[in-house]
Amino acid sequence: MALQELPTAGSKDLFGGVLAFRRDQLGFLADGVHRHGDLFQFRPLGLPMILVNHPDHIRHVLVDAEARYDKNATLFKVVRPVLRDGLIAVADKERWRRQRHMMAPHFTPRTVSAFADNMTSETVHMLKRWESRPQQDAALLDVTDEIGQLALRIVNRSLFSADVSQAAQDFERAFGIANSELGSFFRFPFPPLTWPTPRRRRLRQAIDSMDRFVSGVIRKRLDGEDAGHSSAAPDLLTLLLHTVDEDGVGMDVEQLHHEVLNLCIGAFETTTNTLSWAFYLLARHPEAEARLHEEVDRVLAGRVPRFEDLARLTYTRMVIDETLRIYSPAYQTMRHAREEDVIAGYRIPAGSNILLNSYLLHRHPDFWSDPETFDPDNFTPERVAERPKHAYIPFGSGQRVCIGKHFALTELVLVLATVARGHRLVLPAGAPAVEPDPLITLHPRGGVHLRLAHR
Ligand code: HEM
Repeated sequence: MALQELPTAGSKDLFGGVLAFRRDQLGFLADGVHRHGDLFQFRPLGLPMILVNHPDHIRHVLVDAEARYDKNATLFKVVRPVLRDGLIAVADKERWRRQRHMMAPHFTPRTVSAFADNMTSETVHMLKRWESRPQQDAALLDVTDEIGQLALRIVNRSLFSADVSQAAQDFERAFGIANSELGSFFRFPFPPLTWPTPRRRRLRQAIDSMDRFVSGVIRKRLDGEDAGHSSAAPDLLTLLLHTVDEDGVGMDVEQLHHEVLNLCIGAFETTTNTLSWAFYLLARHPEAEARLHEEVDRVLAGRVPRFEDLARLTYTRMVIDETLRIYSPAYQTMRHAREEDVIAGYRIPAGSNILLNSYLLHRHPDFWSDPETFDPDNFTPERVAERPKHAYIPFGSGQRVCIGKHFALTELVLVLATVARGHRLVLPAGAPAVEPDPLITLHPRGGVHLRLAHR
């Protein structure tokens, strides 16, 4: 059977849709899906991009035909000045395999269970700080900023036994700049990143600042300041410093630096966004908040949650799952076609960039009945069983699925339950809606600001 050519979105636009893409990235893609369906191409500035928006085709790219695709794609080229060849962006498959193999044992559900106490004790500490703020009744909390620091403290304490309290805010700010600059460069790749414009210099300074943060964590360990044995087992940093691969080759300090940076970035921004959106959505949906409180009270009876409680905090988990559906923090990823392929009878030329956008996928009307409404009941076991697995991919899928998935889900549920025991975060009267900002990640524009209240 003859192969079909893909329909093209934005073809009337002189630059292949790049201006519309730059103005409103999600709107441009949603319009393309509306006009052309789940598979179409567009060519911003001549770059071949293909949006794949059906669960079957996503499974094809990420799982079934995974060998035909790699991360040598535009999106990863854009973020590589920050992430370098760390686990998130590395394109070479053999190199990725060795790196993942070294780190994977540290991310199993069993290993992650040992971090539960870090997660809850850091949250209790944060709540005490919130309580002790002067005028805490009146002043709004910058929830995104607060949770950002919490998430950085948790990941650094758990994986690297490092206390980063002081430096966390600088890292958070620097990442915010990089996210915004690279997000806009992805939408419109001009001027080149190497040009010495003021914005490019700001980006350079932000990368340097994140690098200093990571060097600080590693240097302390090499100088023997931080022990690396906060629990019975050695932490990930100790393991990475001493692990050798099957050829007996260890990780050099540069590679180690990139891995630590990738883990900090992978862990902190995504978790921060999810919890910020979760608190925001709960503040806007009192009936869901009441069900959450009922569950937390019943399961915990006021005490701090433990890892073993996760199995019974089912509604809390549904709130997290639904938040990850509506505002999927890692909302876009990309693959590069290493060779020609065929999807649903359409020719996928070698060299194409395949764009997967979970903001759109998670609103697909064939799989979600009322996609814009926050409804944790979308994740009852019955409804989950009715949907194809690849209709919901907040952590990706296939070999390159998020290594921190169990870590993240454990942290998200434990932090939410720890806060919900005694506190609510309330939307101030007349507050404008928070909009998602499609940067490299899906960030709440301007951050989420709420008032702390006792239950
Ligand atoms: C809500 C929280 C999180 C979300 C939504 C999320 C999402 C994702 C997604 C979608 C991918 C796959 C990207 C792709 O296929 O191109 C990914 C990969 C990755 N994530 Fe996460 N992530 C989260 C938390 C974490 C945490 C807590 C860590 C580390 C502790 C982490 C570290 C990584 C790393 C290192 C990769 C690259 C894995 C590989 O390619 O082998 N993430 N994440």
